Amino acid sequence: MLTKKIEKAFNEQLNAEVYSSYLYLAMSAHFAGQSLNGFAHWMKLQADEEYAHGMRFFDFILDRGGKPTLKAIEAPPADFGTPLEVFTTVLEHERKVTALIHGLVDVTAKEGDHASSPFLQWFVAEQVEEEKTARSILEQVKMVKPNSPALFFVDRHLGKDAAE
Ligand SMILES: [Fe+2]
Ligand SMILES: [Fe+2]
Repeated sequence: MLTKKIEKAFNEQLNAEVYSSYLYLAMSAHFAGQSLNGFAHWMKLQADEEYAHGMRFFDFILDRGGKPTLKAIEAPPADFGTPLEVFTTVLEHERKVTALIHGLVDVTAKEGDHASSPFLQWFVAEQVEEEKTARSILEQVKMVKPNSPALFFVDRHLGKDAAE
């Protein structure tokens, strides 16, 4: 059984993960509008992944006898600027999510909820990967001058492989 405090915190994270999905979907639309289809494809895969993260919380809340509570999802921005600005935002966002996950680890530890530990550790490891990927794409985009043809190589690369 989840304590009320943990149930509330997990429901907030469910909302935050679905918001992440929305954010990346908006970024996908932003890139698709500029025919940067590789970037758009990569963002859409991230959006799917974030939705799946939300569903992990949804299912885990149920598994522990809690009640998933669905709140309104905040609207993401519609304009994001250059690819460099977009990936700066992505990295900042992922760092924020990492802090939220670490906050959940602290809350569950304080409440003595050991059953949540393996579940949350999956997210701790996932955030290391997410930050690493965001950082590596940001570094690639940084090397590309504005309106340089090199941008299309990064775009094509992201269109082929979402994991890098
Ligand atoms: Fe996530
Ligand atoms: Fe993420």
